[in-house]
Order: sequence, then C-alpha cells, then structure tokens
Amino acid sequence: MAIFNLKKLLLRKDIINLIDMLTGAMGVNICIKDNAGTMLYGTSGSNPACLPITADSQSIGWIYGQDSGKIAAAASLLNYIVGTETQKKALAAETLNKYGELTMLYDFVEKVNAFNVKEIADFLIKHVSEQIRADNVSVMLSDEITGMLKLIAESGIVGAPMTEVGIAGIVMSSGKAEIINDCRSDPRCAMETGSVSSLICSPVKTKEKALGIVIASTIEPYNYTADDLNFFCTLVSQAAFAMDNARLYESLKEAFIKTVHTLAETIEKRDPYTGGHTKRVMNYSIAIAENLGISAGDKERLELASVLHDIGKIGVSDNVLRKTSKLTDEEFEEIKTHTTCGRDILSYIEELKGIIPGVKSHHERFDGRGYPDKLKGLEIDLIARIIAVADTFDAMTSDRPYRKGLPFDTALEEVRKCSGTQFDPKVVDAFFEAVGNNKINLENQEK
Ligand SMILES: [Fe+2]
Repeated sequence: MAIFNLKKLLLRKDIINLIDMLTGAMGVNICIKDNAGTMLYGTSGSNPACLPITADSQSIGWIYGQDSGKIAAAASLLNYIVGTETQKKALAAETLNKYGELTMLYDFVEKVNAFNVKEIADFLIKHVSEQIRADNVSVMLSDEITGMLKLIAESGIVGAPMTEVGIAGIVMSSGKAEIINDCRSDPRCAMETGSVSSLICSPVKTKEKALGIVIASTIEPYNYTADDLNFFCTLVSQAAFAMDNARLYESLKEAFIKTVHTLAETIEKRDPYTGGHTKRVMNYSIAIAENLGISAGDKERLELASVLHDIGKIGVSDNVLRKTSKLTDEEFEEIKTHTTCGRDILSYIEELKGIIPGVKSHHERFDGRGYPDKLKGLEIDLIARIIAVADTFDAMTSDRPYRKGLPFDTALEEVRKCSGTQFDPKVVDAFFEAVGNNKINLENQEK
C-alpha cells in the first residue's frame, strides 16, 4: 500500500478551511509536522502536547498544541479525514482496476464472437496469461464424436497435467471450477505428473452442456485466490458461449456447403457431357487463388462461386443446353442468360449474395468484350477473373461427344495467348505457377 501523503492533503483548501474552522471553534492553536519534522500547518511555538496522525496504523505525522485534551479532538478529526481519504483512494484504485477488467472483458467478448473455435481458444489463453500468473494455460474440449477431451490450444511450458482421469476429468464431470494450490499433496492430482505445483481449472460450459475445460498452472507453488478464480471463470464462460456458437456455425456452414455441392451436381446432371466440370473448376480456381494471396473470406467466396458459376443454366432449355451442333445466334443469346439468371437465383439466398459478382461475371473478358455487362479489367470481380481462366481451361481440355478435348500443352498455349485479352494477366501468371507446382494437371483431375 502506498504511503499516505500528508503534505498533499494539507495543501487542499477545503481541508485547511475545515481545520481552521475547528481549531477556531475550540480556541486552540495547533501545528502539524510530518515525520521528518517539516512544518505543514500552523507555526511553531510552545506546544508541549503532541499526538500522532496515522494512516493504516502507521504514523504519517504529528499534531502539536498546548492543551492535550483539545489536540486529542483535533487529532481524531485529522485521523478521520486521513482515514476517509485513504478509503477513497483505495476505492478509486479498485474502481480503476475493475474498469480495466471490464474494458478487457468487453474487448474480449466483442472480438471473440467473430472467431472460430481454435482462434477463441488462443485468444482466451492470451488474456488469461496476461491477467493470471501461469506457466501453462491449456484449453481442452470434448470431441463431438468420441466425447474424449482433446487439447485445442496451449501456451507456455508444454506438458502440464492433462489427463482424462485427473483434475481435468473431475472438473469436466462436476462442472465446478477448482483451485488446487498444493497439487503434490492433493489426491485429485494423483494422476498428474511432476512439474505442477498449483493450478486453477474451470469447466467450459454453457447452460445446456459441458464443452471442455481450461487449466492454468504453475511450476513453483503459487497461491491462487478467489479473485483469480472469479476472473478466470468469467473469461472462460464468455469464451464458452462463443465456442458453442462457433461450433454450431461451423457445422451449419459445413451442411450448407454440402447442400451447395449437391445442388451444383444436380444441375450438372442435366448436361451429362460435362460430368465433373464443377469440381474441376473449383479445384483449378483454388489452385490459382493460392498464388494470388487472396484473403480467407475471398477464398470462401471463390469456393462457393466456382461451384455455382453455372447455376443459371437451370433456366436454359434442354434442347439448347444439350445441342451438339453449332448454336444459332438466338440460341447463343439464350445460353448467355445463364449469367444473369444465376444472379437472380442467388439473390434470393442471403448467404450467397456475396458470390453474385463471381457468378454473374465469369464470362466477362479482361478487354471488355465479354458478357453480360461488358465489364473491363479490374471492374470485373477478382473471383470472376479467376473462374474465367479455370472454366475455360477445363472446357478446352474436356472431351465432348462432338469433339475431343485439347491436349494439355495446347490448352496451356491457348491460355497464355489470351492473357491480357480474355484473361487478367496476373491470374494467368498465377495459373501457370499452379501448373509449375503440379497443382493443375490432367492426371489428377476429377472426372
Ligand atoms: Fe458459364
């Protein structure tokens, strides 16, 4: 605890006025000195009586006067003021501390909800390590299929106590947080080995279910307090809800992507000669994107857009779609509508609105001579510029009943020739990088 500053208190006008008023009313002259003998109030004179002024039972100065009874009254007033000020300061420090904790918690809650499970675990560990003394912090979640606890993330010294039957298992099944400050003599830690002396362990649980546990531990003995436990559990419970949401979101997303693939396959079956086209376009597109350094969000959009790029063909009549001879101008116009028809279909599905530019513009050309909007260069969505290369390359190399697919090298030459006219040169470069890395070839392609 910081030493109380008596000098600072006696510089305050309200305090001086109060002492003046009191000593005036009592008809007494006093002076106040600090422990070093420096005069802080009044003037020296003949003051035989003296009493200490204290803060937290420690002397912080002295009050002098002629009448011991009167200075006792003045001293008790001063001690009361000092006591109140000390309390105010402690309260302010505590408030500040709580404010810091709350701000951190708010920041934590705000960020954590945008993360996936592993990111939440890492974020939780980072915050726990900043606030609580620990040589190791580990997050274990129960596997959704086997039910066994599985290490998701850990920081610090690896090898903390982590066994199903030990404290992790106990906390997981009881759903109750525990502090064990002396692991070596606590039977609940009998299964844990060696290096851990003290630990704090909280279940990761929502109202409905237990998801796992978080454990923080030290190698040297440490005295974890109820405050540590309180803070630890608050943070873990926020993370628990975020993890539960993230798990739910991830499984919904998985189901959604599966549905999208099924939808694309169903559509593809209308045109039996293009079997496997969708998956190949997706694989080529992803291989190209890996060399363009696109964001995780764009990668996700690309995956869905490449799968659904021809979804609008659902609106093209069978006799045009399956025609093997040359299309008339009118028929070609009908085929071209699959881009805008794709946009119309996707605009009804909230989760797929983001991929509309990729689907609608995959037949635009870099030189502005494509369709449906004659967009040019970077006006065309990057996702669409990638799909354009992947789609054309696959169309060139696939067999049709009325023609054989081009050999690999000839198709590569064609792609190179169209760089800067039909295709974005940067995307073409990324395509050739993928070919060079053997990520795009005809041997491994999906049929
Ligand atoms: Fe298309």
